[in-house]
Amino acid sequence: MVGIIGAMDIEVENLILVMSDRKAETISGIVFHSGKIENTDCVVAKCGVGKVAAAVCAQTMILKYATDALINVGVAGGIGKEIHIGDIVVSNGLVQHDMDTTAIGDEKGLISGLNLVTIPASKRLTELVVSTAHNIYGKGVHVGVIATGDQFIGDGEKLKEIAGVFGASACEMEGGSIAQVCYMNHTEFVVIRAISDNANEDAKVDFPAFAAASAHKTTELIQKVLPSM
Ligand code: ADE
Repeated sequence: MVGIIGAMDIEVENLILVMSDRKAETISGIVFHSGKIENTDCVVAKCGVGKVAAAVCAQTMILKYATDALINVGVAGGIGKEIHIGDIVVSNGLVQHDMDTTAIGDEKGLISGLNLVTIPASKRLTELVVSTAHNIYGKGVHVGVIATGDQFIGDGEKLKEIAGVFGASACEMEGGSIAQVCYMNHTEFVVIRAISDNANEDAKVDFPAFAAASAHKTTELIQKVLPSM
């Protein structure tokens, strides 16, 4: 069983539309749609924005739906000159840029319970998604660290800090939390994000203009990946 999580309707709606034998169940206010996509058993949910909502959703999928892999899809702010709106970033690792116990001497981003800053994504899933994305899109596909925090990033200063400290290629608000839940449960995961903005001062204009088209790109990609999972 594959679990697929997006924060907003635009990030999961096309997957729910193509699901066959669909059933819906609401737990903790989140609607879980289970059925088949491309003949693969899946559960798909819109978790809502942010790390807590994403963690509740991920843990519920693992406990109630016995998922053996989780995929987080959706949009992100691109970091760096080579990452453009509409590009795909596939995670090789996730950091939580707002995790900060530096005041007691820790490294920035350290998740003390795990003694890790970067949570590695499944190598198998990352490679599968990247090769599928290359086949479909040719260029504009990147592999990198994705930085998560409970903040929409829309200014150059914060962006520079995330890029400088973590070397991240994209920022968003759920992936790092899903990664932590998966790490704690020994569940493999990957995060697939399409760029909706460049997390700078233009983001408030770019995000509403490009989010839907970019989000739909990731759901198209997932449908091509699922049969090989
Ligand atoms: N998701 C899409 N764009 C984002 C941004 N700039 N910051 C955080 N999450 C995002």
